[in-house]
Amino acid sequence: MPKIQHLKISLTLIVLVALFSCRQAKPSYNPTKSTITENAMVVSPHPLASDIGVEILKKGGNAVDAAIAVQFAIAVCYPRAGNLGGGGFMVIRTKDGTIDALDYREKAPAKAHRDMYLDSLGNVMEGMSTEGHKASGVPGTVAGLFEAHSRYGKLPMDELIRPAIRLAEKGYIITATEAERFNRYQEAFRKYNTPSSPFLKEHWTEGDELVQSELAKTLERIRAGSAKGFYEGETADQIVAEMTSGGGLITHEDLKNYRATWRKPIVGDYKGYRVISMPPSSSGGVALLQMLGMVENYDLGKMGFHSTDAVHLMVEAERRAYADRAQHLGDSDFYEVPIDSLISEVYLQQRMADFSSAQASLSDSVLAGNFKLAKESFETTHTSVIDSEGNAVSVTTTLNSNFGSKVWVDGAGFFLNNEMDDFSVKPGIPNQFGLVGAEANAIQPGKRMLSSMTPTIVEKDGKVFMVLGAPGGSTIMTAVFQIFINVVEFNMNLEDAVNAGRFHHQWLPDQIQMEKGALDSTTIHALKAMGHQFREVDYMAVIKAIQVLSDGKLHGVADTRNPDDTARGF
Ligand code: DON
Repeated sequence: MPKIQHLKISLTLIVLVALFSCRQAKPSYNPTKSTITENAMVVSPHPLASDIGVEILKKGGNAVDAAIAVQFAIAVCYPRAGNLGGGGFMVIRTKDGTIDALDYREKAPAKAHRDMYLDSLGNVMEGMSTEGHKASGVPGTVAGLFEAHSRYGKLPMDELIRPAIRLAEKGYIITATEAERFNRYQEAFRKYNTPSSPFLKEHWTEGDELVQSELAKTLERIRAGSAKGFYEGETADQIVAEMTSGGGLITHEDLKNYRATWRKPIVGDYKGYRVISMPPSSSGGVALLQMLGMVENYDLGKMGFHSTDAVHLMVEAERRAYADRAQHLGDSDFYEVPIDSLISEVYLQQRMADFSSAQASLSDSVLAGNFKLAKESFETTHTSVIDSEGNAVSVTTTLNSNFGSKVWVDGAGFFLNNEMDDFSVKPGIPNQFGLVGAEANAIQPGKRMLSSMTPTIVEKDGKVFMVLGAPGGSTIMTAVFQIFINVVEFNMNLEDAVNAGRFHHQWLPDQIQMEKGALDSTTIHALKAMGHQFREVDYMAVIKAIQVLSDGKLHGVADTRNPDDTARGF
């Protein structure tokens, strides 16, 4: 063979191999799980998003700017939960100690009504609040991010959205976890997505590239037109057209009328720590302070980490807090939630008056209700940020289930939430997380459905001590509770505190849900003898946390429960 021809063949082979290995390349994201830095930290559910947060901080953006840029980025690179079509909550503490809480939770559309998921006999129509067009509330994310920016942002919004546009337009390499999720939901995508959806594919593999051109255009309209680029004009037309095609309820008016709402954060003390968290429409802050208040008078430290006594006490506090949630918690714009009473010391002591250190309480005697087992779904997303000036942001956002309602807005390129399932669709009937509710959380037009999201900031000696939060449905509140107790009472370092096995009691079902191997067999045996029942689950809420260490350095920890969670700082 002539030399030149030989060379040509070799070159072709090299190019083919390069192309092949490029397409199959594993992303080299290195999702750092635990890192200590001097100045600033971002912990988010995706390495690309954490990197974007750090990029913004290095450009001079503050923690709110970084959180906003991360939220836009995860709408692209974490599509199962990061979103434009969902909602969330942001808790902020500025370097001078100002605290604030922003509620951009979805709202029920104007056409929604109390019995919309019941048939003519008053029975719940299975699946209607969880999948398809009728499952969506009016999205709050874009309004929330602009609202947060208008009060606290430093860099122009333009600079915070551009990295997300870049990711959507140019594409990014998906991780193994994403490939698994995309494959798992193909059937639902085929049902609710149009053929132009980039998520439809025979088989996804780690290393595949995902380009989202329609989403890039939507983000570009938001960049150019602010929140109106989402709630009005072409994007609004696309959402309404999608609703019309599938029998959904969201109208142009619903979108135009949506506003995010500033709230007074929930604040409480625990042995010298000041806990700042989210008020209704999330139940997270109230439940967290209730659980802490109920255990504060006991010496958990002396009982010991995961000892029978400690687990029993914490479970009994959890049981009581979730019973209160079912009865008293809902959107405070629509229902008078007795927040001050629920977190008052006197009330919490009364609540524990029937606590026996030797015997499990019965949930039926704490307050009655029905139950079913929660389906496991951990597809919300949390981001914790501290910037170099000491501003802190804790933000949780979600579509609810994986890819929300599974409805992908044709032309606009994003998934819509299935948050309507977080309402109590019928008193006493559990939602997908097994949570029950009543009047306080009944469906009403314009009302926000009750959440469990618990974005939290903890102060010690007047300074930020910890920023934390998590996805995980009903297990979010007990996870935040346990991480705090692990650090403060059991003196664990943050990484151990986050990665330790967890347990969870939510009043109904009357059982301790426990991650496999979390408790040893002797402890389980002793707890069973006290009357507790157990159910093993694979994993619970996925924490993203930052602790300010005694020397002022920042310890960022990304939960090993989600391989893609990443802590990055400098
Ligand atoms: O707001 C809530 O409580 C739920 N919609 C959160 C859903 C969730 O965390 C799902 N998985 N992580």
